[in-house]
Amino acid sequence: MLEPIVWEEDRLSLIDQRKLPNKLEYFICKDYRDVAYAIKEMVVRGAPAIGIAAAYGMALAEINNENIEEAYKTLKNTRPTAVNLFWALNRCLKAYKEGKSIVEEAKRIQREEEEVCKRIGEIGEKIVDDGDTILTHCNAGALATSKYGTALSVIRFAHYSGKRIRVIADETRPRLQGAKLTAFELNYEGIPVKVIVDSSAGFLMQRGEINKVIVGADRILRDGTTYNKIGTYSLAILAKYHNIPFYVAAPLSTFDLESSEEDVKIEERDEREVAYIENIRIVPEGVSCINYAFDKTPAELITGIITEKGIIKPKEEEIIKLFKGIKWK
Ligand code: MRU
Repeated sequence: MLEPIVWEEDRLSLIDQRKLPNKLEYFICKDYRDVAYAIKEMVVRGAPAIGIAAAYGMALAEINNENIEEAYKTLKNTRPTAVNLFWALNRCLKAYKEGKSIVEEAKRIQREEEEVCKRIGEIGEKIVDDGDTILTHCNAGALATSKYGTALSVIRFAHYSGKRIRVIADETRPRLQGAKLTAFELNYEGIPVKVIVDSSAGFLMQRGEINKVIVGADRILRDGTTYNKIGTYSLAILAKYHNIPFYVAAPLSTFDLESSEEDVKIEERDEREVAYIENIRIVPEGVSCINYAFDKTPAELITGIITEKGIIKPKEEEIIKLFKGIKWK
């Protein structure tokens, strides 16, 4: 399996996801500023992966004897929507304030998140039937975590258990995480995958060619409202209309029990991501573009949330139950 986040000899190597699928190269981070750059520019992306990378950013600040509070602030201001970033940074800051090693805390976060993603796959594969064609959006795979993935962990484990499944990956405009990353990752492991343009999903559902939709998440609120890559909401509505189960796979680190919808900032990225394809402008000069990176899917459109502690309905009482006995802060 791909190793997108490697900590070795006090430095952080990240698979440079901007270069996939054509080049598999590592981007080396020697200090927390390199990590902040890597998160902002999407060298590393995907909610759990940016949390883990940010934790190592804090670890680098510790090793380089830099101001930890400054590092925390810089890393916190890289991307606003995925809550895993803040969750991991808060864990590292807490460890530091308690006089513990940030390096060890970052390693612990990575190990735990890998284990959690494995559990999500083992638990989630039960919803997959032999012969299913599963639609997924963006990349919620090993590249977006550290190992296995979330939505792709469910798919991986279904495949490992011998179920004959096929995956349809939405290309996921404008950054094309589906076409470039999900297709690369599944193909790398020999899991059958086909890529579609985002606007094909409805037609494939209408033709009866999709049995399930499984996506990841960047943040889930206590009432089950789910933030994920732009286009997820449209897919959920399409799935509802066609009576197709729509699952979200996410670790507990993606839940945000404290915020309400007004508190969640949806990232708006540079409009050039929409206006240009591979450096060629496709939108007339003088016309501007809208580029929200994420959208919000209401709980009523979600069949179930697959977590490391089981599959739950997106209901407040079930979400609260997941966190019984767990202290995050
Ligand atoms: O902008 P990205 O590529 O960081 O967005 C990633 C997603 O939206 C993923 O679906 C989400 O982070 C879950 S990753 C397990």
